[in-house]
Amino acid sequence: MCGITAYVGDGQAYPYLLKGLERLEYRGYDSAGVATVNNGQVQLHKTPGKVEQLKSTVLPGKIGISHTRWATHGPPTKDNAHPHLCQTNSIALVHNGIIENYAQLRGQLQEKGYTFKSDTDTEVLVQLMNYYYGKTYNMEMALRKALHDVVGAYGIVAFHKDDPRLYAARKGSPLVVGIGDNENFVASDPAAFLDSTRRVLYLEDEDIAVVSKNDYEIKSLCVGEEECVHRTEESIDWDLSSVEKNGFEHFMLKEIMEQPESLKHCLAGRIDLTTGGIKVTIDLPEHFVKRLSKISIVACGTSSYAAYVGKYLIEKYSRIPVEVDVASEWRYKNPIVGPEDLVIVISQSGETADTLAALREAKKQGARSLGVINVVGSSMAREVDSGIYIHAGPEIGVASTKAFTGQVVALNFLALRLAEMRKDLRHEEVLLAIQELEKTPELVTSCLKEAPEIKEVASQIKDAKSVFFIGRGVNLATAMEGALKLKEISYIHSEFFPAGEMKHGPIALLEPGFPVVTFVNKNDPMYEKNLSSIQEAKARGAFIIAVADHVDAVLTSNADAILHVPTVPDILQPIINVIPLQLLAYYVALARGCEIDQPRNLAKSVTVE
Ligand code: M6R
Repeated sequence: MCGITAYVGDGQAYPYLLKGLERLEYRGYDSAGVATVNNGQVQLHKTPGKVEQLKSTVLPGKIGISHTRWATHGPPTKDNAHPHLCQTNSIALVHNGIIENYAQLRGQLQEKGYTFKSDTDTEVLVQLMNYYYGKTYNMEMALRKALHDVVGAYGIVAFHKDDPRLYAARKGSPLVVGIGDNENFVASDPAAFLDSTRRVLYLEDEDIAVVSKNDYEIKSLCVGEEECVHRTEESIDWDLSSVEKNGFEHFMLKEIMEQPESLKHCLAGRIDLTTGGIKVTIDLPEHFVKRLSKISIVACGTSSYAAYVGKYLIEKYSRIPVEVDVASEWRYKNPIVGPEDLVIVISQSGETADTLAALREAKKQGARSLGVINVVGSSMAREVDSGIYIHAGPEIGVASTKAFTGQVVALNFLALRLAEMRKDLRHEEVLLAIQELEKTPELVTSCLKEAPEIKEVASQIKDAKSVFFIGRGVNLATAMEGALKLKEISYIHSEFFPAGEMKHGPIALLEPGFPVVTFVNKNDPMYEKNLSSIQEAKARGAFIIAVADHVDAVLTSNADAILHVPTVPDILQPIINVIPLQLLAYYVALARGCEIDQPRNLAKSVTVE
């Protein structure tokens, strides 16, 4: 949600800021803006719409901040776009997050004579800093005092026109400092400055960073202003090409196509085929794992659908009851967890506000936590007791693709490792499962070869008003994910249903030509039942699209289109079956002329509640 880039150095800030914003546009893309300082005056350029529209003007100045927005308070207008200036035009500020008590603070500032130009919560913050600056003539003090008054989440960067330093702070929204030569950066994501430096420092909650062109200081809101806190410098090891399209029309297509590679990374170094061992360390005491009687998995969106696969696997191998909840519900339901329980969070970004809050709630209740996470060093990655990275590399397309398949592979490792620790599976059973897992990159490659045929099927359903995805067992999760992919990028209404539930209501909606997507996998324990569901839908005239690993007379007489996949055991079916559904959603959206990488109203990383 919202992308921030800031620069201070010997160079002109504007080109760095624009390049950074383009890389961060996946985080929010309804309006954008830049502020710099030149000859002691703040220069400001803002626009509704995309970063592209900022290119018509170049602001001079060697220090600057910029922002690409996903609106929370007020529509995406020029006035509501960031940066916001205080009323004396001396402080400029960009913000990612939500200031919950902004209405109260705004009222207090209005009583002191402040006037406001925007509907945003952010403007309150910059005016508050102005108020405290008037009392201290010190930006760090003004920032500290303002943040002490604020309730909410923030990643912010600000500057004062008379002070050649950037002032950054975070609580709940990610910020990273990039350390260059005679230039330094602050951004929501290191992708923003990766072609200038790979040396980074991730800020932690309640950190304040004061960054000049040759130096930086990290302090904490929790300790005295004189005291610096130590944050370890890290080096980014992923390649810039992973945040660029590399010739693909869209990031989503690139990320679908690179799944054989991302899965290889997820598998790398985790399997020892000679001994049949899994080299995944789960940092939980053995006695705790052995005594587990309940596991909760908490996540949002696609990650919550991967969670259902995790539930299937853990229940299958270890017979431990697993409950899956979306984080926005779980965190407020007064969850029944305690020191004997394990709470697993799944997140691509590791920053999703609801999931992060759920993790903190779990820890507060004394539960142990485990994360299945993509972004290395993200907030969740740092806060979980134990974790498994999926190593999918940066995912830029708003529609999650390679993260889902990576999560499912990681959950396979997790379920097997838990079963090993508890002695729920025999060594031969674990060996068999990991031999299958090892084949996933190759199997996914063969699914991707079907892209031209899938594009053809997409053209047949591109004008549908609604599409159903029906599945059972482990493929209910695949149906969930297929429906989400289609609706979020093509804007066609799509729903998943457990196939057996169709006859209890949803079947009433079927009429001739209504697309229904389903799964026909030989090794699916629900194979026969699925066939009956297909026949029921076909009898009502539905246009049946079967993701199938074989073709027989029953299938050809019932399916209108077949998306071919290889035969795999049940544990791998969500990975293999989701590939054609990702491509189907992509090609439907393409045929409808949709903005695939930046679908309306969405943003990649949902760091607000
Ligand atoms: O970064 P996370 O995995 O925590 O994100 C969760 C959801 O916001 C995300 O999966 C969202 O549903 C995607 N748009 C799905 O394609």
